[in-house]
Amino acid sequence: MAKGKVDALLGIVFGDEGKGKVVDFFTPRYDLVARFAGGPNAGHTIIFEGKKFVLRSIPSGIFDENKINIIGNGCVIAPDLFMNEAKEVEAAGYSIDRRLLISRRAHLILPTHRLLDKAYEAAKGNAKVGTTGKGIGPTYSDKAARVGLRVGDIEENFKEKYDALKARHLDILNDLGCRDLDISAEEKVWLESVEYMKKFRLCDTEIEINRALEAGQNVLAEGAQGTLLDIDHGTYPFVSSSSTTIGGVCTGLGIAPQNVGRVWGIFKAYSTRVGSGPFPVELFDETGTEIRRIGKEFGAVTGRDRRCGWVDLVALKYAIMINGVTDLVMMKADVLDTFDKIKVCVAYEKNGVRTESMPYDTEGWTAVYEELEGWKTPLSDIRREEDFPKAYADYIDYLEKALKTPIAILSVGPEREATIIR
Ligand code: IMP
Repeated sequence: MAKGKVDALLGIVFGDEGKGKVVDFFTPRYDLVARFAGGPNAGHTIIFEGKKFVLRSIPSGIFDENKINIIGNGCVIAPDLFMNEAKEVEAAGYSIDRRLLISRRAHLILPTHRLLDKAYEAAKGNAKVGTTGKGIGPTYSDKAARVGLRVGDIEENFKEKYDALKARHLDILNDLGCRDLDISAEEKVWLESVEYMKKFRLCDTEIEINRALEAGQNVLAEGAQGTLLDIDHGTYPFVSSSSTTIGGVCTGLGIAPQNVGRVWGIFKAYSTRVGSGPFPVELFDETGTEIRRIGKEFGAVTGRDRRCGWVDLVALKYAIMINGVTDLVMMKADVLDTFDKIKVCVAYEKNGVRTESMPYDTEGWTAVYEELEGWKTPLSDIRREEDFPKAYADYIDYLEKALKTPIAILSVGPEREATIIR
């Protein structure tokens, strides 16, 4: 029997591309859906049958009762937020405890990690990253410092290990001027949620995934955040703390590179960024406000306004290179339905220097644009490529030529049906 493959669906700009919708749409093709990086900083929105769910840690394949879902070792998990999320899915009628596998190697986000996240941000003054405040950075820091707690730790003497790490955190918080903190209420819920987690299959997910591959099953690796938020390849230090790119799929699930099949790179027909950091295509004018309003570009986790701009070919080419993207998925072109002209960033410029490749320091660069015709036609009800308005077909063609990669899937609305496969 042929071995199965791991296909990856990766956000290739700053996240928020609509991965939840696409994973949900893809799920029937796969046997397992796995998250490999990040934690409750993500908010993957899925809309079907008039219901809306925002998943933070649970993979978006959970609504298909025949599929196994995995939270891999590269993820970080906040038991209390996970419990709320899992209960919400259960309350909607889905039984998940046997279908959700959680890696014993995934790291736990403690309540004090969240306090540290906020305290570090406050201490940064004007250089804030604009984190989601979910404790992501401090948890990955503890992992790298080899003092973190893992899911497997909850199986034995957990309270002792928890108390030791908490004490360490409280010392640091004290040094940062955060004194007399009362976390007792939050801690009580958190410890209860650790007990709740035990009903799920806490296991060595890397072994389970490799067994499934040996048995010919296929896996979809569901990315979180985006390439430009990757700890190595993003706009450091304005990044998240995990490996959001293709390398993270291998380390975050425990699979070898030769098991990777297709790499789907998902992006929007325009750009957004939430949080601080360089964003050369950012629009501060009425067009930016309109894109935000029409595209409902407000953070799924924090509710913050997303910064909006035109599509950025410099960023997309870079992400396609870093990830080895084989196919592109373009989301939300319908948001641009009413615009007369559509701009595309083809290069960056600073002090008379022009570049088409991602610079080391993206600060201070401005975007150089080319202008295309808008299609001025509603796209949301279109289901067949033959029915595309010419200017939309031209936009797709222009992007494919520039990016040298096919756009295999187009999404023109939030519903499952508003998805066109080419
Ligand atoms: P953290 O991941 O909470 O540490 O935040 C670091 C940076 O990544 C901030 O700029 C966040 O706004 C951004 N970020 C984290 N998660 C997401 C996401 O799921 N979508 C978009 N931006 C995110």
